[in-house]
Amino acid sequence: MKKITITIDGASSTGKSTLAKRIAHHMGYTYIDSGAMYRALTLYAIRNQYIGEDYFNKEQLIKELPGISIDFDPNDSITLNGMLVEDEIRSMEVADHVSTIAKEPIFRKFLVAKQRELGLEGGVVMDGRDIGSVVFPDAEMKFYLVASAETRAVRRFRELRDKGERVSPKAVFQNLAKRDAIDSTRKDSPLIKPVDAIELNSENASEDHLLNIAIDHIQTRLH
Ligand code: DC
Repeated sequence: MKKITITIDGASSTGKSTLAKRIAHHMGYTYIDSGAMYRALTLYAIRNQYIGEDYFNKEQLIKELPGISIDFDPNDSITLNGMLVEDEIRSMEVADHVSTIAKEPIFRKFLVAKQRELGLEGGVVMDGRDIGSVVFPDAEMKFYLVASAETRAVRRFRELRDKGERVSPKAVFQNLAKRDAIDSTRKDSPLIKPVDAIELNSENASEDHLLNIAIDHIQTRLH
């Protein structure tokens, strides 16, 4: 059967990655976390002290772009210049700076090219903010996930706490609010719901229920 491209966009912690991974597993497709790519580039900038509390050496990061390789290993875990960085990219420090980097067209261009290369053959489920609108505007199946800001902040707080990171719920809520604002108002590829996307609300829906609805839509599209 033909392998299609499936996109899932939405704000932070709407449950995109859980749904995307489950669809990919169900379909035998590859899951690609585009947010992880922006996070890996941000981690590179933090490690090299190009971005911090009150500075951003954008020019130096641009100069070094050709030497930066961001990829996925066979387990779909993200690598930065060949090293696994899956845990490090999920820190609050990375979350604090990622939207600043993600709003710059030059960094988007760099990562979008890589995303298109990874999705060239179809058979992928990719999640992010601009996947159905910009990266794969011709994707056969597009979803857009929504949930309230409070629910999303609680989810993200629990995720960070379970990983042993000491953060306050307030700091997590503020980080999400700030990222939402930057991600949806930036000039280049802001977060929008593609016109042809199916909206799913993960607020009170179980993961199984969401998966079933998504699979029904995909099956209809495939036949
Ligand atoms: O999905 P996430 O929270 O891991 O994404 C981290 C950041 O990366 C998010 O705040 C905005 C940015 N991003 C983006 O601009 N475009 C994408 N396709 C994916 C993520």
